[in-house]
Amino acid sequence: MAIVTVPAQGRRITDAAEITSFLADHGIEFDRWPLEDRVDPAAPPEAILAAYAPEIDKLKARGGFVTADVVDIRPETPNLEVMLAKFAKEHTHTEDEIRFILVGSGVFHINPVASPVFAIEVHAGDLISVPMGTRHWFDLCKERRIRAIRLFQDMSGWTPHYAEEGVHTAYEPLCLGPAYVAGSARS
Ligand code: LAC
Ligand code: NI
Repeated sequence: MAIVTVPAQGRRITDAAEITSFLADHGIEFDRWPLEDRVDPAAPPEAILAAYAPEIDKLKARGGFVTADVVDIRPETPNLEVMLAKFAKEHTHTEDEIRFILVGSGVFHINPVASPVFAIEVHAGDLISVPMGTRHWFDLCKERRIRAIRLFQDMSGWTPHYAEEGVHTAYEPLCLGPAYVAGSARS
């Protein structure tokens, strides 16, 4: 379950309904999809995509997405640092960025420009849709593990367009982890 923080306001949102409405106010869609009761999150990509076909088809119909794939990032992924450095700088895309998290976690920072930067820590079961043109950046949590479904409108359209004066350097990608949500503070 996701956690939203607004560092400039010392604000933290952990309630699902509050997260959904806060993000909706910023044009970001947040949803929860079923996990283990649908498919083993470690199943091969084809099985994952088949299992979520109803949800994926709905998003495709709405957003003009043409392809879905499964991305798998692990601590031992070759060139991990180079790949992460690309995500970790403030950027925009010319298409919506839709991700459904199957395994692991990460942090999206969003810069709405007209209001303070906020962070969305995503975990397994979370779906997030960041609208095209929205300034954002992404970091993995400490375990450096994420497996996610991605939807694309254009395979070449994923290109990040970097913001000239990216504010990402001012923010730490601190992951609180599901333990926080469960009510036991993480040390
Ligand atoms: C992306 C995310 C990670 O561009 O921001 O794929
Ligand atoms: Ni992006």
